[in-house]
Amino acid sequence: MDRQQLVFDGYEKQIYSTADPDTVILHFKDDITAYDNIRRAKLTGKGAVNCGISALLFAHLGGKHIATHFIEKISADELLCRKVTPIPIELVVHNYIAGSLADKLDLPEGMKPSTVIYDLRYNSSELGDPLINDSQAVALGIASFSELGEMYDTARKINSCLVKLFDAAGLKFVDMKLQFGKTSDGALIVSDEISPDTCRIWDADTDEKLDKDRFRHDLGNIVDAYGSVYQKLKNILG
Ligand code: TMP
Ligand code: ASP
Repeated sequence: MDRQQLVFDGYEKQIYSTADPDTVILHFKDDITAYDNIRRAKLTGKGAVNCGISALLFAHLGGKHIATHFIEKISADELLCRKVTPIPIELVVHNYIAGSLADKLDLPEGMKPSTVIYDLRYNSSELGDPLINDSQAVALGIASFSELGEMYDTARKINSCLVKLFDAAGLKFVDMKLQFGKTSDGALIVSDEISPDTCRIWDADTDEKLDKDRFRHDLGNIVDAYGSVYQKLKNILG
């Protein structure tokens, strides 16, 4: 399947149409950005590592009957995916306290809360991607209550799968962000990527950060850290 038109040009990814109206090509760029694009850089190899990690994780979830947009990896930095209409919401799952949640609740990073915490963020750059609750999402027409229920169910399943997988790989799965979209036949499936750009992943023994926080906090060795996550997952998943 070859690229046709560029239909979305994001900071870190691009989407191309293909000859098949129900599939797209997701291209992972080497660019990395944070803080609403204030901090940006190009890191050779980052796109390929995130593409490889996403492909491994999506294939693993597919094997557990969790529907995602992933069809197959078609090159080092491209995935063939089902075309979806994106739902403008991010479902963030926290297994440990970190990042903005640590700031908001004034809790230490690395603390394990007594329950997994699920947050919704409304994808709106004008509003700064605010945290919203279920009834606000429904009132805004983003999703119905039953669709939100489906998204939480899927997030719960993905999280328990990935917590186990990362644990087996010697990694701590701190948090993740999921995006969803609707296919032309109305199925609600997971889209975007699952990678160290969209999750927090720490070394299980040392708590060393192996994700985008290395870039956010200027810790260096970003692609090496992402590569070590990829290698550890490959060791488990083959
Ligand atoms: P946060 O600490 O910035 O709220 O992020 C929580 C998790 O969600 C972290 O793994 C990063 C991910 N995330 C994104 O991938 N994109 C986003 O726009 C946001 C807000 C979070
Ligand atoms: N929403 C933040 C950003 O604009 C998330 C991040 O730092 O990755 O980049």
